[in-house]
Amino acid sequence: MKASEISRVGVFGGAGIIGSSWTTYFLWKGLSVVVYDIDQNALAPARERITRNLSYLVENGVLTQEAVSNALDRVVFTQEIAEACQDVQLVQECAPENYEVKKTLVAALDKHGTSEILFASSTSGLLITEIAKGSKHPERCIGAHPYNPPHLIPLVEITKGKQSNDETVQTAYDFYKALGKEPIVLKKETLGFISNRLQIALHREAVDLVLNGVCSVEDVDKAVCFGPGLRYALMGPNLTYQLGGGALGLKGIMDHIGPSVEMWLADMAAWKKFPENCADILQDGVEKEMANRRPEQGRTNEEIARWRDDKLLELLRLLGKIDF
Ligand SMILES: NC(=O)c1ccc[n+]([C@@H]2O[C@H](COP(=O)([O-])OP(=O)(O)OC[C@H]3O[C@@H](n4cnc5c(N)ncnc54)[C@H](O)[C@@H]3O)[C@@H](O)[C@H]2O)c1
Repeated sequence: MKASEISRVGVFGGAGIIGSSWTTYFLWKGLSVVVYDIDQNALAPARERITRNLSYLVENGVLTQEAVSNALDRVVFTQEIAEACQDVQLVQECAPENYEVKKTLVAALDKHGTSEILFASSTSGLLITEIAKGSKHPERCIGAHPYNPPHLIPLVEITKGKQSNDETVQTAYDFYKALGKEPIVLKKETLGFISNRLQIALHREAVDLVLNGVCSVEDVDKAVCFGPGLRYALMGPNLTYQLGGGALGLKGIMDHIGPSVEMWLADMAAWKKFPENCADILQDGVEKEMANRRPEQGRTNEEIARWRDDKLLELLRLLGKIDF
């Protein structure tokens, strides 16, 4: 199947955080969507959330009100898995991060859908080989990991399981790219993929600095977002080093600061399990951080998420990732 043949997507677990956001994105990009969720009570709130997301795009000049009315005519909500597998060309699976749940959905697609339908899991880091195990069509299964919220953040990490075929990977890549995403394909399947491994490596050190009394939760967050985080929106760590090394480039800076960095590395966190009680300490610290925010930056989860989305839109505009 070619990417251009994908016009209707099934979003499984579509009433959740990621499912609602993917649905917003697919509708925004002109596709039809069938939202399937096991929880009947979650469907109406999901519809409201998706409508709110689309209205937000109208308020910010990304979509017209007419486009939103049109989009809402292209989405159906169902609790019937058989219905969700009909006439779709791709399933974006967004159910809980659990092998058994995801395997049940792969099996349901085997049972109720045609063999051509592509199964793309939003898993944050489970192995697609394991998710597809037992499927009649493991070749059509891939990982397609978004970053929250998928309707705004461009990255999609595509992973190929041992039995996924190259055509499936290519179709998925072309599909997300054509929509306006920034897909990358992992050369090799790995738990946690790329971005989550990087994120967790940074978070482990952030937690360790707090637990060792070096800084507060608020200050470690400031150190990320007013320092390297600002540059990371523009370029990754390797290109950053290339510029930092002047005429000698990345190699130059690594030669220069390498011995010093090796001392830091020897001193840095290497634990494999979160230390006991660390979640309580972090929760307490993040609540203090929230209370200290300027009122216009928001202080509750909802207010801060809204502020984040406003700023994300501005950044995406700056980076040319949104054409409006
Ligand atoms: N939340 C994030 O920041 C984030 C980011 C990227 C990827 N992900 C991944 O996306 C997936 C979904 O995460 P989420 O945060 O949206 O979770 P969520 O709990 O908000 O949503 C999961 C949805 O799946 C539904 N569900 C549960 N069992 C089901 C079943 N058997 N069939 C159909 N629907 C079922 C639930 O009712 C719920 O609406 C996970 O794999 C997660 O790792 C999450």
